[in-house]
Amino acid sequence: MKRFKVFTLSTLAAAAVSLAQVAQSTDVEVLHWWTTAGQAKAVAELKIALENQGYGWKDFAVTGGGGQNAMTVLKSRVVAGDPPTAAMMKAPLIYEWAEEGLVTDIHQVAIDEKWDELLPPMVQEIMTRDGKYIGAPVNIHRINWMRVNPKVMQDAGVEVPETWDEFFEVAEVLQANGVIPLAHGGQNWQELTLFEPVMLGVGGADFYRKVFVDFDVDAINSETMVEVLDTFKRLKAYTDKNAPGRTWNLTTAMVMRGEAAMQIMGDWVKGEFSAAGMTAPEEYLCVPAPGTGDGFVFTVDSFGMFKQKDEAELEGQQALAAAIMSHDFQRLFNLAKGSIPVRLDVDMNEFDSCAQGSSADLASSGENGTIVPSLAHRSAAGPTARGAMIDLISQFWNDDNLSSADAQAKLADAAARLSS
Ligand code: GAL
Repeated sequence: MKRFKVFTLSTLAAAAVSLAQVAQSTDVEVLHWWTTAGQAKAVAELKIALENQGYGWKDFAVTGGGGQNAMTVLKSRVVAGDPPTAAMMKAPLIYEWAEEGLVTDIHQVAIDEKWDELLPPMVQEIMTRDGKYIGAPVNIHRINWMRVNPKVMQDAGVEVPETWDEFFEVAEVLQANGVIPLAHGGQNWQELTLFEPVMLGVGGADFYRKVFVDFDVDAINSETMVEVLDTFKRLKAYTDKNAPGRTWNLTTAMVMRGEAAMQIMGDWVKGEFSAAGMTAPEEYLCVPAPGTGDGFVFTVDSFGMFKQKDEAELEGQQALAAAIMSHDFQRLFNLAKGSIPVRLDVDMNEFDSCAQGSSADLASSGENGTIVPSLAHRSAAGPTARGAMIDLISQFWNDDNLSSADAQAKLADAAARLSS
């Protein structure tokens, strides 16, 4: 009896404490576009990490691969003077908002948590402006990946292609076997995502940088650019008629089911395979896109924090930044997301062969100078430059009357405007 009483009292006391916590807890509104099966698992880890810091999670998910819709919605909230507490966005955009004085400085958290010791120099550089951290990095995604259905390849008697020439030979055989060689989702950002590995594979890293980082008109006017555009357009014949409008994850499902043989897309695709319970290399393969074995097109996912009036929300932002960089979160989130951690001290032995390959290639491409930022995924430039290029590449892909020379001229015009 006595025992029962003690139990009841302590339970009541615990309930009172947690009620008080609930009453005080502040919700942190977080905008992101991670809504597919694998991505939702990854986001759930972020929610837990934040809650572990004593803050509530207010979900602000805007569906749409590559963040097109999310970034439009974000802009309208910012312009209306009502930004979310935090938003998943890439560094160049954070720089723009920071210049407008809208971004909260999270430098103190970075100092307290020793980010400079934990992050590779490249990520430190990306996440800082004037020596101060302006965003919290989550991961590194590699764009120039290709997922392959090994059974489909085996049935057709073909090997995984390592060069673009091999790709076209293999694609012919697959098509003759009634398989869609290349799974493609016809949305402009997916077209630019496909274009990037082609440009890296055909033109090399220096050429890629000249075009998508410097917007160099001479590079765009070169013969190499025509070759890049020709190779890109040639791929279309190996995609299916139902591609237009299809989301990237439904496109991935075609490779899972064996309707299609290969998909060239960033490693968030791996998150979908994992969420479907499939493992590499048994059920799918991850290999660099043709011709890009020693290269690395990257994007760093990160969160920027917008200035808030409420003191508790400002504290919540610091807590979110700390949660994002915590060791456990980095491990769990990236296992689900398909990316690799930004923290150098996360043991990669726990990750699969795809992530280990990504990690090794990140290091070697950094040494060889063959690492380049993704424009499609907002790491190479801000929204204006990206907007100009994405429209032209997508138009070229979709309009069969446009020649490579036409597209080249349009790209050169756009680049001249961007650099003037
Ligand atoms: C990228 C982003 C990834 C993933 C992908 C598909 O821009 O870096 O985290 O979300 O879009 O939506």
